[in-house]
Amino acid sequence: MKQALIFDSGVGGLSVVSEIRDRMPDLHLNYVADDLFRPYGTKSEPALRARLPMLLKTLENMLLPDLIVIACNTASVTALPDIRSAVSAPVVGVVPAIKPAAEISQSKAIAVLGTPGTVRRKYVDSLIQDFASDCQIVLKGSNALVELAEQTLAGAHVDKALICNEIDDIFKNAPDIDVIVLACTHFPLLKERLAACAPSHVRWIDSGAAIAKRVESLLSRHTKTELKSKRVYPETAFLIGPSASPQRRVAFQRFGFSKVIGLCP
Ligand code: DGL
Repeated sequence: MKQALIFDSGVGGLSVVSEIRDRMPDLHLNYVADDLFRPYGTKSEPALRARLPMLLKTLENMLLPDLIVIACNTASVTALPDIRSAVSAPVVGVVPAIKPAAEISQSKAIAVLGTPGTVRRKYVDSLIQDFASDCQIVLKGSNALVELAEQTLAGAHVDKALICNEIDDIFKNAPDIDVIVLACTHFPLLKERLAACAPSHVRWIDSGAAIAKRVESLLSRHTKTELKSKRVYPETAFLIGPSASPQRRVAFQRFGFSKVIGLCP
């Protein structure tokens, strides 16, 4: 049975898990949340580049995945080449869906809503230059939305005003915006609540479905003999750091991870 490892700083990768499960219901998934180092959006580029390759190599040795998904925009736009050099499995990263956003925008005004770490990276500048040079772009970084998504998934009540506060200024700066790129995997988990804060014609776009398609295509290239022989555990979410609250465990279980295990480094 083919296995993939889904990696994020927290629950954000679960938005990618949903897309992968829709497309490949038989793929065996394990999940790792780097709770100890979250939020990635506040971390420097050198700090992420120092941590992620070694961590992913250790996880690869532990779980023997056929493929690794870095289900995190911040990690992908910062350290994808370093991670690819460190591991042997194919690696799929998540990058902001700026190209499709520019293609569907009528007003040619789009916003990129990610973590501060993502929206200030050079990688994003190049995506804009290559695919959206004819668009007005508003870059909006929010760490608060990451935390609000974590709280929502853990079952806490999150006030609408807290979510709306994070995106109100997007429309003040560019009232014509008709597409918003959800450039952090945590944010699709809040999509309905974000949409309730915005004009109804605004379209919200993320990279989840494209990632699932890429995973399917890469895994279909493996022949049976290329796959490593391995023990198959129940689908498990490994949470790096202090043990998770019962509500947080339930969130992972809802997405199909029947076991939730704390990993203490
Ligand atoms: N889910 C992440 C992303 O896509 C990272 C959130 C964070 O830890 O700041 O960027």
